Amino acid sequence: MSEPSIYDASMNPLDLFGEWLAEAKACPAISEPTAMTLATATPDGTPSARIVLLKALSAEGFGFYSNNQSRKGRELSDNPKAALVFYWMPLNKQVRIEGVIEPLPDAQADDYFASRGREKQLGAWASVQSTPMQARGDLEARIAEMGARFAGMSVPRPPHWSGWQVIPHTIEFWIQRDFRLHERVIFRRDGSRWAHAILYP
Ligand SMILES: Cc1cc2nc3c(=O)[nH]c(=O)nc-3n(C[C@H](O)[C@H](O)[C@H](O)COP(=O)(O)O)c2cc1C
Repeated sequence: MSEPSIYDASMNPLDLFGEWLAEAKACPAISEPTAMTLATATPDGTPSARIVLLKALSAEGFGFYSNNQSRKGRELSDNPKAALVFYWMPLNKQVRIEGVIEPLPDAQADDYFASRGREKQLGAWASVQSTPMQARGDLEARIAEMGARFAGMSVPRPPHWSGWQVIPHTIEFWIQRDFRLHERVIFRRDGSRWAHAILYP
């Protein structure tokens, strides 16, 4: 069988990811091309996963924003490792990323927060993410309270809302092929370079 056609081995996997993401963004059938599953774990290894949006892609890593007191926020603080999965169904492509977590710089989080609509900014202040609430009305009341608190001024970034990035040590590209004979290539960071290997499907 011929060599896999999904990658150029001389390519940095972050550049290759950038190409795949651009293809996903250009695909009209994909409504959330930046949606990714974020898996975290407690220090004793109990995993949890949820979707977040990729908001900062750089040569360093994959950045996203959330409430730092949420379940994911607490797990990331106690155990700063994470895995990400992208699946773009119309393209039949998957990317898996594993790495360590670092906070995004405050100034970057400030800029991104400032770029969001006011309703989302007030929502970030009002939501005690991942904690139980008595009734939906409690959230609405808190949003109204925050609206009054910040009336006539711009809404600052809440102290409980920030960004992280996954600094990858492993990135795997997968493309669906007939008869489950999918193509997989895994890149592993080896010092300052990336080594790659192809995997059985
Ligand atoms: C398409 C999509 C995008 C989402 N984007 C984010 C996001 O960027 N940040 C975030 O905190 N939650 C986002 N969520 C909500 C999370 O999946 C999750 O419900 C929330 O962050 C609480 O997770 P936790 O209790 O594990 O901390 C998104 C959900 C979906 C379905």
